[in-house]
Amino acid sequence: MSLKKKISMTVNGTLVNAEVEPRRHLVDFLREDLHLKGPHLGCEQGACGACTVKVDGQIIRGCLYLAVQADGCVVETVEGLTKSGVLADLQESFMRHNAMQCGFCSSGMLLAAAELVEKQPKASREEVREWISGNYCRCTGYHSIVDAIVDVLNARAKGQKIKPVTAHA
Ligand code: FES
Ligand code: FES
Repeated sequence: MSLKKKISMTVNGTLVNAEVEPRRHLVDFLREDLHLKGPHLGCEQGACGACTVKVDGQIIRGCLYLAVQADGCVVETVEGLTKSGVLADLQESFMRHNAMQCGFCSSGMLLAAAELVEKQPKASREEVREWISGNYCRCTGYHSIVDAIVDVLNARAKGQKIKPVTAHA
C-alpha cells in the first residue's frame, strides 16, 4: 500500500496534481518534481530564507512547510512572480545596485522585499534592514540590497518607476 498522499494545488497559475510522501517538503516538491529551481535550499532549518515561496499570499519557508500542507492552496515562486511582473521594479533595482552576486539568496530576498514594499510602503532604512534580517546573503554585505529596496520604496512613493538597466556593449 502506498503511503503517498494525493495533493492538488495551483502553482504559478497552473493546477498541479501529484502524489507525494507526507513528509516531503514543499521546496523539494517544487524544485525536484516541478523543476522550479528559483526557490533554493540552504540551511534546511528555517534560518536563511533561501527557500522562501508564497502560499495563499503569505511568504513561508519552503524547507519547513510540507507539500501536503499546500494541498488546495495557491503557491507562487519567483518564476511565477517574475512572469506576472510583480517583482519587476525590485529586480531592476537589485540589478542597478548590484544587489545580487551569486544569486543564491536573491529569490528569497525579492519575495521578502516585495512583501515589505506591499505592507510597509513608508518603511525607513532601518526598518528595511530589520525586515530582511531573516534572509541571509553571503555575498553582498546587505548594503546594496537595502539600497535597492529603499530606492523602490522612494520611487513608488513618488509614483515613479525604476528605469531599466541599460546594457553596455
Ligand atoms: S533553506 Fe529554508 S530557511 Fe534556509
Ligand atoms: S547574492 Fe550570493 S548569497 Fe546573496
